[in-house]
Amino acid sequence: MPTKLTVFLWLSIIMQAFCNTTHETVKKKRNELFEKELEMMLGRDIVLNENETKVNEIFMKLKTKELDQGFRHRRPFVLSKHFFEYKDDVKKTELYKLIKKMPKGAVLHAHDTSLLGPDYVLELTYWKDLYICFIDDEVLFRFAKTLPTTPCATKWQLVKEARYSSGNVDEFDDHLRKEFTLVVDDYVKKYPDNNAIWKSFKKYFKTILSIVSYKPAWEQYFYDALKEYRHDNVFFLEVRSILPTLYDLDGNVYDPVATAESYQKVTEQFMHDYPDFMGAKLIYAPSRGTEQFTFDEYLRFAKEIKRKLPDFFAGFDLVNHEDAGPPNKHFLPQLVNEKDNLNYYFHAAETNWNGMDSDENLYDALALDTKRIGHGFALIKHPLLIDEVRKRDIAIEVNVISNNVLCLVSDIRNHPLSSYLAQGLPVVVSSDDRGAWEADPLSHDFYAAFVGVASRHADLRLLKKLALNSIRYSTYSDKNKMIAEFESRWSQFINAVKDKHA
Ligand SMILES: *[C@@H]1O[C@H](CO)[C@@H](O)[C@H](O)[C@H]1NC(C)=O
Ligand SMILES: *[C@@H]1O[C@H](CO)[C@@H](O)[C@H](O)[C@H]1NC(C)=O
Ligand SMILES: [Zn+2]
Repeated sequence: MPTKLTVFLWLSIIMQAFCNTTHETVKKKRNELFEKELEMMLGRDIVLNENETKVNEIFMKLKTKELDQGFRHRRPFVLSKHFFEYKDDVKKTELYKLIKKMPKGAVLHAHDTSLLGPDYVLELTYWKDLYICFIDDEVLFRFAKTLPTTPCATKWQLVKEARYSSGNVDEFDDHLRKEFTLVVDDYVKKYPDNNAIWKSFKKYFKTILSIVSYKPAWEQYFYDALKEYRHDNVFFLEVRSILPTLYDLDGNVYDPVATAESYQKVTEQFMHDYPDFMGAKLIYAPSRGTEQFTFDEYLRFAKEIKRKLPDFFAGFDLVNHEDAGPPNKHFLPQLVNEKDNLNYYFHAAETNWNGMDSDENLYDALALDTKRIGHGFALIKHPLLIDEVRKRDIAIEVNVISNNVLCLVSDIRNHPLSSYLAQGLPVVVSSDDRGAWEADPLSHDFYAAFVGVASRHADLRLLKKLALNSIRYSTYSDKNKMIAEFESRWSQFINAVKDKHA
C-alpha cells in the first residue's frame, strides 16, 4: 500500500507535467500565431541568398536599435514626430544612407510642379526676363520681354530689379524661398488641420506654376527632376501632370497636348544623356475642380495625347483636395464612356473622413476598373474593398510622408500602411509632392515606411518587395527587362554593402 508521501509525490509529478503541458501548448500556440501572421506580411515570399542574408543582418541591427531605443525611452523615436522634425537628422543615420544607395525601382505617384524643392525653384528666379508681382501674402511670376500684360493686383517688376533694390539679397531670397516650400518652424500653428494646409498647398502650386509654365523653365525643371530621382536610385518615373498651358516669350501658348509632347521630348533627351535611366510616363491628372477646361475637354485631351504619344501616355486621373470635391461620381457618365479607351489611376480616399464622398471615391475608382489607387488612405475602413483590391491585384500607392505633412496622421506608427503591409496587400511606396516638403525623391518615404510604419520584424525582404512592386505595377512595357536591370543593380548593391561591412 502506498504511503501518503508517495501519493503526494506522484500527484505533484502529474500536476507538474500537466502544468508544463499547458504552458508548452500555449507557448506553441502563441508562436504558431506569431509565425503564421508574419507569413502574411508583404515580402515574405522573397528568399534571400547568402549575401542578402548578411546584408539583412546589417539592416536589421540598425533598424532594431533605432526602434528598441525608442521603445525603452533611451532616445526619442523621431519617426513618431512630424516629418519636419526629423527630415534632416535621419539623413545622417547609417540606415538612411544604405536605403538611399539601395536601388528602389520606380516612383509611381508624383506630381509635376512639386518634383523639386525650394532651392531649385529659387535658382529659377535668377533666369532673365522674369517679372514678379507681390500681392498681400502671395507672389506671382511671369516671364516676358516687356512688362507682362497678365493681371497683377499691384505691379509687375523685374525680379532682378526687385532683388537688387531690396537692399538685402539674402533676405529677399529667403523670403522668396518660403513661397516655394510648405516647410515652416511653427507648423502646428500654421497648419492646424488638413483643410488649413491644403490652403497653403494650393497657394504653393499657384506660385510654382507661375514660374514653370514658361516652356523653357518647364522643360528644364523636368529634366533636373529626373536627374534628382535618378540620383536617389530611382530609374523610372510616372508623373501625374495637370498639363498646364505653357507659354514662351514670342507669345506662343501650348495646349495640354503640346505640354505632354514637351515632357516626352525632355524624357528622350534625358535617356540619351543618362542611358541607365529607364524612362518616364505620363498620367494626365487635371484638377477635379475643372478650373481651366471642362471635363469633356479633359477627356478629349487625354485621348488626343494617347493617340499622339501612345508609348508615353499611361492614363488618366484627377487631382486636388478630395474632401473639397467634386467627387469622382460627379463625372461618372463621362468616365464610364471612356472606360475602354483610357486607363484610370484614380486618387481615392486621401482623407480621414469615413462615409463621405471623399472616401467613397474608392467605390467609383474600383467600379471604373482603376489600375492603381492613389493613396487609398481610408481603404483600411472598407473590408470588402480590401478584398477586392487583393483579388484584382490593384496596387495602392501609399505616400506616408505626404499623409503626415498634410495632417492625415500625426504619428506614422498609426499609418494604415502598417496594416496593408501586415496583410500583404499590393502596395507601392511613393513620395507624392516631395519637393513641397523638401524630402528626398524616394528615400525618406522608404525609410519612414521601413522603420516608422512596418513591423519591427519587417526586414530586407520588405524593401526588396517594395522595389519589385514598383516595377510590377508600373506601366513600363518590358517588365522582364526592367526586373533584370533591377536584379543586376540590386546584387551589385548587396555585394558592395556586404564587402564594406565584412
Ligand atoms: C516541468 O518544468 C520544470 C521547469 O521547466 C522542470 O524542471 C520539470 O522537470 C518539469 N516536470 C515535468 C514532469 O516535466
Ligand atoms: C556574394 O558576394 C561575393 C563578394 O563578396 C561575390 O563574389 C559573390 O558572387 C556574391 N554572390 C552572389 C550570389 O551574388
Ligand atoms: Zn497625389
